Amino acid sequence: MNIIILGGTGSIGSAILNDLSKNTENSFYISSTNTDSLEKITEKYNCSGKVLDIMNHNSIESFFEDSTNYLESIDAVINCIGSILLKPMHLATFNEIMDTFHMNTIQSALTIKYSIPLMRKNGGSIILFSSAAAKIGLKNHDIISSAKGAIDSMVKSSAMTYARHNIRINAISPGLVESNLSRNIIKNKFSLDYSLALHPLNRIGQPKNIVPAVKWLLDKDSDWITGKSIRIDGGLSNLK
Ligand SMILES: NC(=O)c1ccc[n+]([C@@H]2O[C@H](COP(=O)([O-])OP(=O)(O)OC[C@H]3O[C@@H](n4cnc5c(N)ncnc54)[C@H](OP(=O)(O)O)[C@@H]3O)[C@@H](O)[C@H]2O)c1
Repeated sequence: MNIIILGGTGSIGSAILNDLSKNTENSFYISSTNTDSLEKITEKYNCSGKVLDIMNHNSIESFFEDSTNYLESIDAVINCIGSILLKPMHLATFNEIMDTFHMNTIQSALTIKYSIPLMRKNGGSIILFSSAAAKIGLKNHDIISSAKGAIDSMVKSSAMTYARHNIRINAISPGLVESNLSRNIIKNKFSLDYSLALHPLNRIGQPKNIVPAVKWLLDKDSDWITGKSIRIDGGLSNLK
């Protein structure tokens, strides 16, 4: 498979890349925000990629354009870029609200926008990242849960729009996973204990816990699955 991984140097993105690269038939084009990290990872996995700033529209457009210079056709796009903002609405600044929607919702919309022309002929699979927090009302998640919740709605409608082109669009919705994004939450004992109590399995997820669902969605035998947001969250969103 020819696979684009946006955020391939992130915690979940690199775990996905590491696992999928065990299949030598897979080729990758990945994004990173950092030239050194990109060089290291593309060398390690013998793949190519480009520095991308998802907040810059031109950068997204040229990233997708350039991917086709390296990969002849695109079978899958996995978008692991995103952010977390834990603040009650009245304390968040205008820029924090805008940035959270840009970093999660708007960039997911643009990922679909630029992936479709690359997949229109042969079909394909797009995987976005939502959050289990979008499924329930969690304190201080006002902004991030609404930004991620919009991705769940987008996945459903876009899956319907592009089903006739055999393009499947799904999302993964993690609970709290140990990663660069969650480092500050996890290193604070109070917030770690609070988070553990929210997850019935009483542990924080690891990036490797997310990989099986991604592989399953990419599998040929899963080619009847579209428009879903799959929660991988230690029971956070549906057990009480
Ligand atoms: N960790 C959690 O608890 C959790 C929970 C729910 C949902 N999620 C979602 O899961 C996905 C993966 O997150 P993660 O946990 O793996 O966190 P992570 O390690 O911080 O990964 C985030 C990725 O976003 C990239 N990124 C950040 N700013 C960017 C920008 N301006 N332009 C382009 N790329 C940018 C980072 O690039 P670099 O690699 O260059 O830094 C990194 O690859 C995200 O969508 C996140 O919202 C995570």
